[in-house]
Amino acid sequence: MKTHEITKILVSEEEIKKTVQRLGAEINAHYGQLDRELIVVGLLRGSFIFMADLVRQIKIPLVVDFMTLASYGDGTVSSGDVKVVMDLDSSIEDRDVLLVEDIVDTGRTFSKVIRMMRNRNPRSLKICAFLNKPAARIVDIDIDFCGVDIPNEFAVGYGLDYAQGYRQLPYVGVLDPDSAQ
Ligand code: PRP
Repeated sequence: MKTHEITKILVSEEEIKKTVQRLGAEINAHYGQLDRELIVVGLLRGSFIFMADLVRQIKIPLVVDFMTLASYGDGTVSSGDVKVVMDLDSSIEDRDVLLVEDIVDTGRTFSKVIRMMRNRNPRSLKICAFLNKPAARIVDIDIDFCGVDIPNEFAVGYGLDYAQGYRQLPYVGVLDPDSAQ
């Protein structure tokens, strides 16, 4: 596998830790007491590291579930349509649901998932994203719990990939795709 250069760090390990703690506190304050467990839904694969850190900051009872989506398109340019590759295991009808994403970029994935989730009649639906790239937005999304705004650069690490690699970096960095070795 070719390696690429990480040209700068966008979100350090220390900032990640502080951000996840802040988001956890916001979520705890928002939900307070619930009569049934919160359902925390992670969108795979990108969210898996953030989700693991985030749920450990949430003090209210919860269950986790996951959904895998894939973009349609020719592989280079996304058409903006997404299909469900693996659906949730649980019913979310009349439940409180928190959707967790690693990044909101164009907003297409979230807008599609939000529509899909609303059709299943949850009692409440909130959104938490670790990274937000406002300059790339095509579809408007209200992020209820938002981590860090980043510039429109190619971010990898902390769950985000380039060709499925780099997800395990403990920080978020900018990758230079032209620096292959
Ligand atoms: C990434 C990320 C979000 C989506 C955000 O997923 O995890 O799901 O893109 O982009 P958008 O706002 O432009 O829709 P990707 O399709 O790369 O899959 P992954 O989760 O497996 O990394």
